[in-house]
Amino acid sequence: MITYNKENHSFHLHTKSTSYVFFVNERKHLQHVYYGAKIKDIKNLKDFIPQYEFELGTSVSYSEEDKGYMLNYTLLEQSTYGKGDYRNPMLHLELPSGSRTTDFKYESHQECLNLHFEGMPQVRKQSTLEVKLVDVKAKVDLYLYYTVLEEEDVIVRNTKLVNRNEEKIVIDKALSMQLDVLNKEYQLLKLDGAWIRERNISIHNLTKGIVTIDSKQGNSSNSHNPFLLLKEPTTNEAYGNAIGMALVYSGNFEANVEINSHDFVRMNMGINGFDFRYPLASGEEFITPEVLMSFSDTGMSSVSNHFHDAINHHIISPNFKEKERPILVNNWEATYFDFNRKKLLAIAKKAKKLGIELFCLDDGWFSRRNDDFSSLGDWYYNKKKLPSGVKGICEKINKLGLDFGIWVEPEMVNQDSDLYRDHPEWAIQVPGRNPALGRNQMILDLSNPKVREYLKVTLYTLFSSANIKYVKWDMNRNISDVFSSHLDQQSQGKFHHLFILGLYDILEYLTKEFPDILFESCASGGNRFDLGMAYYMPQTWTSDNTDAYERVHIQEGTSMCYPLSMISNHVSGDRAHQTLRHTPLESRFNVAAFGVLGYELDLSKLTKFDFEVIKRQIVFYKEHRTLLQFGTLKRLSSIRDKNYSIWQVMNKEKDEALILYFQDKVRPNPGFSTIKMDQLQEGTYTITNRPQYMNIRVTGSLVNHVLPVKLKVNGGLLNMVANRYLYKNEEMNKTMTSDQLKNMDLLLFHTFTGTGTNDNVMMLPDYGSRIFHIKKENNTNED
Ligand code: DGJ
Repeated sequence: MITYNKENHSFHLHTKSTSYVFFVNERKHLQHVYYGAKIKDIKNLKDFIPQYEFELGTSVSYSEEDKGYMLNYTLLEQSTYGKGDYRNPMLHLELPSGSRTTDFKYESHQECLNLHFEGMPQVRKQSTLEVKLVDVKAKVDLYLYYTVLEEEDVIVRNTKLVNRNEEKIVIDKALSMQLDVLNKEYQLLKLDGAWIRERNISIHNLTKGIVTIDSKQGNSSNSHNPFLLLKEPTTNEAYGNAIGMALVYSGNFEANVEINSHDFVRMNMGINGFDFRYPLASGEEFITPEVLMSFSDTGMSSVSNHFHDAINHHIISPNFKEKERPILVNNWEATYFDFNRKKLLAIAKKAKKLGIELFCLDDGWFSRRNDDFSSLGDWYYNKKKLPSGVKGICEKINKLGLDFGIWVEPEMVNQDSDLYRDHPEWAIQVPGRNPALGRNQMILDLSNPKVREYLKVTLYTLFSSANIKYVKWDMNRNISDVFSSHLDQQSQGKFHHLFILGLYDILEYLTKEFPDILFESCASGGNRFDLGMAYYMPQTWTSDNTDAYERVHIQEGTSMCYPLSMISNHVSGDRAHQTLRHTPLESRFNVAAFGVLGYELDLSKLTKFDFEVIKRQIVFYKEHRTLLQFGTLKRLSSIRDKNYSIWQVMNKEKDEALILYFQDKVRPNPGFSTIKMDQLQEGTYTITNRPQYMNIRVTGSLVNHVLPVKLKVNGGLLNMVANRYLYKNEEMNKTMTSDQLKNMDLLLFHTFTGTGTNDNVMMLPDYGSRIFHIKKENNTNED
């Protein structure tokens, strides 16, 4: 709900449990008052506004009449450069005179219904507050937008700039929003990483100065995710105040947190001002991408839940909104480029037997693509590998009872391709310079409408050539050699943004033409894990790293902002191809199950043990899929602080939950672990663990202590048995009341301590894990 108080000219934005307040001050600037837990509309505004009575030495007063009003020490909703605010501005313009000083003042406001920004990914919204500010001298209008997602506790913000000047102006920076607050010893949480270690959580104290995270790579990047969280020092996952922000954009971005000399904190976020110089002709407008903002006084997991709900309800395409996602098998790590129809069908046949629902044909199916040196751009099938084409393999896979999906990397081109030979000018490069390559490939210039048209036609033809139900859209390098032969000299600084708008244009077209295709965004795993892509593609390949231990870190970080329904995870073979680490097959599943599940290993070569184990995993996942893809996730403990991570997903009714317990390395003789759950609905609960199976090889030379028969250690017979024998782990079967679970915690069995084992001992090797199921019992004793 948004209310406007005429008397003190203030705006009150209320979600279910938060409030956001700002007002128009006497100088007609928009001044920020409050963002936090829900409060009633404020009448006594002045009591809450930090305002100096006198000018401070060496500072600049905005006006002679009121010397204590200095923009540098005012909490502002919007800021520019030139009138005494020396913090990082949200907007920086060059006017026709060459001046860079601007000053925007309130003019009017209105409510907009079903506002939609053409060609941009965005929150699907109903009611939006539009506040119009004007710089009369510059003849530029600035609109600030505020959408309230009441149920989700999220406020959405962005801006529009309109040039009413007769001459062109230049935008040097146009961020989407800012939030000015007073410092509360804030700490900053960000998601940093690199390829195969994406979105690892880092938390640090803030001191005076500026912390910037950004991307200059042309995509939102795996170095820093476009997400920030500000928290008070005592805030943890379950308690305390935190504010999160996430950008709906897939290109270069910046996000800044600045603390100035007087402990005023400014947070802002938007398109990166670096390598951005955007001329805006007379009459033209510029729209900035949206930022989702959320506050919670019940800890960081709650902030995450707000984002998860907002994304699931308002960003993900309505066609896939809360729609269960299929379990797929992908042939990449099983075959890499080395496959033929026979190999693919052998994997698919086994997949069907295991209960898998979709087969994704990955890289290598087209043109002469047998390694990563050639053929990107030539999207026609390789006759040797697929004699009857994409249609043929799709029909064969469908006949086996599986849906079919396909990999593409449409933004790219190899120099060794027909497309490049025909249109070298379509690839991004600076004339006269040798282009730098990434994975031996170049990038197509999506700012050029001819390139977009070519891709639309080519992909339309491909996607309609067979019964394609899923597309994995890859993007395997960062942009370099930034130049477009299609843009004039003055417009080169627009390139990065136009590239992203070009990408959105193609995706807008394809998702309209193929509303039932489930698109998965991929960029070497998570090099473009953002809400811009999520608007078109309901799920994202989280990381090329499928090592369960690394995935705990990656998925924990990813879940800070993104819902489980977006987080695509695969169980891969032993050992992890990225780390050479061995993690138990059951742990690989347990971690991958928290999100959208897939398998990526040569299923045709599974041992009997692996086959039987995977079959049971899939039955379990199907039974709990809604919870695992759409349940409310709480991070109860983290491997960053303890020897284990504990994640919980609960249903909306709060009468069923699943809990992951994932151990780091074995600690000898470690004592007991307990789990403090989130509050469940009142009642009696049954607690069981997912039946899991251990490969008896884990027991090494102790094997004869756990087996009923004697076998020679390392002998052929043992090998044979190990490949077949399902050694079942301990079983938990408890009954507890909701009160007990809340106050007394769930007590786990102790782990193996080297002195013996029985049915009440958890045999948990390095990276061992369990999933516990907590479900309310039906009350049968009613009278
Ligand atoms: C990078 C992706 O992340 C992988 O899953 C795979 O699709 C390869 N590209 C194929 O080249």
